[in-house]
Amino acid sequence: MLMRQPAHMFDKLQRPLRDLRISVTDQCNFRCRYCMPEEMFGPDYKFLPKEKLLTFEELTRLAEIFVTLGVEKVRITGGEPLLRKELPKLIRMIRHVDGVKDIAMTTNGSLLAKHAQALKEAGLHRVTVSLDSLDDERFGAMNGRGFKVSSILEGIEEAAAAGLQVKINMVVQKGTNDQDVLPMARYFREKGHILRFIEYMDVGNSNGWKLDQVLPSRDIVSLIHSELPLEKASPNHYGEVASRYRYADGKSEIGLISSVTQAFCSTCTRARISAEGQMYSCLFASSGTDLRSPLREGWSDERIREYVAAYWSEREDRYSEIRLSNTPGLGRKKVEMSHIGG
Ligand SMILES: C[S@@+](CC[C@H](N)C(=O)[O-])C[C@H]1O[C@@H](n2cnc3c(N)ncnc32)[C@H](O)[C@@H]1O
Ligand code: SF4
Repeated sequence: MLMRQPAHMFDKLQRPLRDLRISVTDQCNFRCRYCMPEEMFGPDYKFLPKEKLLTFEELTRLAEIFVTLGVEKVRITGGEPLLRKELPKLIRMIRHVDGVKDIAMTTNGSLLAKHAQALKEAGLHRVTVSLDSLDDERFGAMNGRGFKVSSILEGIEEAAAAGLQVKINMVVQKGTNDQDVLPMARYFREKGHILRFIEYMDVGNSNGWKLDQVLPSRDIVSLIHSELPLEKASPNHYGEVASRYRYADGKSEIGLISSVTQAFCSTCTRARISAEGQMYSCLFASSGTDLRSPLREGWSDERIREYVAAYWSEREDRYSEIRLSNTPGLGRKKVEMSHIGG
């Protein structure tokens, strides 16, 4: 029998376990060059067979176990989470887990218009929609499949109309879509949605990342501030990854996720579970620990709980803080972003 009262687990760097990111599929209908480039994730790429994916019952059981270790927030991600059949059913199951205070999802938005209402009714609170440009040609090239901007904007509006809190994520890649920073800021300021700029990261092994393709957040702030004055705002909560800036006229705000130039490892409270049930303690990890076998081999909840607790208490990852220091081992193979989500 699991303890009802959550115990707060701390890792070796005194970071509590608070957030759980669940990837529900490794598949995606986009081929964003910075995440799943077509040349690596082409027609011959072998995605996970269905029996290797954790079932909704297994994911819910894990959520119940993680809550007893201090988790309060769950984010559903992927691959593209809306490709997983009957996703609202999973949201409903997790909503009923005692102790889960917040359920969010990250999506590319292409299927959101169709599912927004059902997701809201199932109990989803918040949705983050990724969109990198308002220009069809650039967006189509970046998503690798020619998807149109209008279909994503429609998803965003349907989600807002359904009553979901909506944020937009834009990955900024110097030389690719930096010209879209200002048009995106203007557009979402008018719409009243929070736009967050993410520094292009060296996740996975396939995007050919180079430091000079990163547009530092401070340059983004200066650029926007020169046209639309900004004021720094204080964080909403401990461990918030985005630094916030409010428009001086009070019309909406932006966020900056500076994973490269101002790493936030010291307050990282996130555990990640891949679609096949590997638990990772860092987005840049090269290996995780298998939770699917314990789930399928009849381990008790208490035994899995102790196993996860031991894993977390040994955690000392701080990849982004040491990325720029040429520390040995940084060139090792990392898990792909499409396996564990952002
Ligand atoms: C891996 S995706 C999964 C969810 C969904 N398919 C989507 O795109 O929103 C999660 C987030 O990671 C971001 N992302 C992917 N590759 C990235 C990279 N190399 N650098 C920064 N962000 C990245 C995406 O833009 C997205 O906001
Ligand atoms: S970032 Fe999201 S939408 Fe783009 S390829 Fe990766 S998983 Fe798919």
